[in-house]
Amino acid sequence: MNILVFGKDGQLGRAFKEQLKHSSFQLANNIRFVGRDECDLSNPSQVTDLLNTFQPELILSAAAYTAVDKAESESEKAFSINATAPGLMARYAAQHGAALLHFSTDYVFDGSKQDAYTENDKVNPLGVYGKSKEAGEHAISTAFANSRAGQYAILRTSWVYGDGSNFIKTILRLAKERPALRVINDQYGVPTSAAWLAEVGIHLVLDDGQLRPFASGIYHAVPGGETNWYGLACLAVQTALDAGQHLQASPAAISPIPASEYLLPAPRPMNSRLSTNKLKIEVERLGLVSKLPHWNTLWDEQVCAYVKQLGEN
Ligand SMILES: NC(=O)c1ccc[n+]([C@@H]2O[C@H](COP(=O)([O-])OP(=O)(O)OC[C@H]3O[C@@H](n4cnc5c(N)ncnc54)[C@H](OP(=O)(O)O)[C@@H]3O)[C@@H](O)[C@H]2O)c1
Repeated sequence: MNILVFGKDGQLGRAFKEQLKHSSFQLANNIRFVGRDECDLSNPSQVTDLLNTFQPELILSAAAYTAVDKAESESEKAFSINATAPGLMARYAAQHGAALLHFSTDYVFDGSKQDAYTENDKVNPLGVYGKSKEAGEHAISTAFANSRAGQYAILRTSWVYGDGSNFIKTILRLAKERPALRVINDQYGVPTSAAWLAEVGIHLVLDDGQLRPFASGIYHAVPGGETNWYGLACLAVQTALDAGQHLQASPAAISPIPASEYLLPAPRPMNSRLSTNKLKIEVERLGLVSKLPHWNTLWDEQVCAYVKQLGEN
């Protein structure tokens, strides 16, 4: 099978590489990991040419324009990468009977709901990044709506961390450099490990190395539990201290502040909680629970393991 992975140098792209590294799988399949240097997603003809020459049966779409604040002044670029390019991938997959696994974000919501968002809730992105990701979702579902071939899953996730830049690494760096920190405590969501997300995504689309028939659509994919940025920062710092890392700031030196005291160019949803009932039902229907060793681990267990691992590297 030809498998095309976009975003090889991103957090999720690297997690896919780790997931797919088993030599038997590598030998049995033709896997190509591409980065911006090989295929610039802001250039539609490069995307189309690559799809037509490589002819993937499975596309793992892990690349995205993720600079949330910069997107406010680079709207055209964000839309070409986050909406036009996934639309081209979807059109190719729908025309050629391929599968597309794509990723979207909690930022498609405005955060005004009190409970966790379901896949049926109305989207209303607040900023350009969220709008461009929502347009990508729309482009994909439209391409498949007009076709009987192929299948797609869009996994909406939140607060991703892995091998790359992320909030946890920033907080640990700041806790090393400064004796005190201020962190927002009224924006809620679920930190999601890129490794966990890649494992769930791969098992959803592949069964023993073959394409698996699954129900196409949007799914929310985050681990169990919820927190706010302050809670996440305290846990990361405490875990690093427990693991023997030398930091200037302890959790006691982290002050909770409202988002209104930390203004950024792009507005963020205050509530990013995503209900995962739909994904749970599909995972159970496909008999995947026993194949996903980390399926039921909560966000805080995953963060602790990640911070310990960072300290060992
Ligand atoms: N990070 C989060 O907190 C978060 C939250 C919710 C949803 N998501 C979604 O999850 C997915 C994975 O995110 P991530 O955290 O892995 O993102 P990431 O670490 O920022 O990686 C994004 C990748 O996309 C590549 N890319 C950007 N512009 C490109 C272009 N013009 N052509 C080709 N490649 C380009 C980047 O390439 P370079 O390495 O060359 O820059 C980078 O490797 C994305 O769909 C994102 O929207 C992320």
